[in-house]
Amino acid sequence: MPMQRSWLTPGVLLRKALGPCLPAFAKSYRRIYLNPEKLAEVIAQQLPENASVLDVGGGDGYLSNDLLAIRKDISLTLIDLATGIGKGIDPSFRNRVHVYDGKSIQDWMQERMATDSVHAVVLSDVIHHIPDSALNGFLHDLAELCRRTHAVLIIKDVEPGHYLATMGLWADKYLSGDRATRLVSQERLTGLLKAQMPNAIVLETELKKIDPPNYCVVLKPK
Ligand SMILES: C[S@@+](CC[C@H](N)C(=O)[O-])C[C@H]1O[C@@H](n2cnc3c(N)ncnc32)[C@H](O)[C@@H]1O
Repeated sequence: MPMQRSWLTPGVLLRKALGPCLPAFAKSYRRIYLNPEKLAEVIAQQLPENASVLDVGGGDGYLSNDLLAIRKDISLTLIDLATGIGKGIDPSFRNRVHVYDGKSIQDWMQERMATDSVHAVVLSDVIHHIPDSALNGFLHDLAELCRRTHAVLIIKDVEPGHYLATMGLWADKYLSGDRATRLVSQERLTGLLKAQMPNAIVLETELKKIDPPNYCVVLKPK
């Protein structure tokens, strides 16, 4: 289920125009919508010691940098349907990061699960890019992955209704060109996840309070 993105969007042109300034711009732009340090702290608290983390929909890897900076014991694998991901990973962290691009969760389960261990699965701002018609199938794959690996599942997304959420939605639709973008509330996402993972313990984190409209839910295998 690739993002429904047209090939030449204002976002693509801006990326090309910014060239080497892109990472600095992307960091500042991201700060409009969230506090990356708070997000990384909230996620870091949920990661087991020495965890191998799958960052599904890892994109440029900016979240990975923040996590790797505060959790020196973890390693990360970025998976994404898109190719050419991980360009924002700080060179000092490269030896702790694997990139598995142009791949889905199902690909990972078929090709890597037998050999690679995974202790936590993290998604940041991915759910709102999954078309609604594909959401249940995507959550089913996530649940299957976590059931088979016993990994903790950590999902960060954006609560609809806040002005920042609306601004971000419009930027995704009309700058990035992902017209299928729509926000999924924490309540709806939690309900869908509970249906897919009835045996998991569901926790709400403090992110919703400390950095709204962002929220983060955690599912732990019993
Ligand atoms: C808004 S970006 C988020 C990037 C990164 N996680 C972050 O927080 O900065 C969403 C990413 O999800 C990826 N994506 C969308 N659908 C996906 C799927 N079904 N499987 C894996 N990645 C997907 C996109 O290609 C994109 O890189």
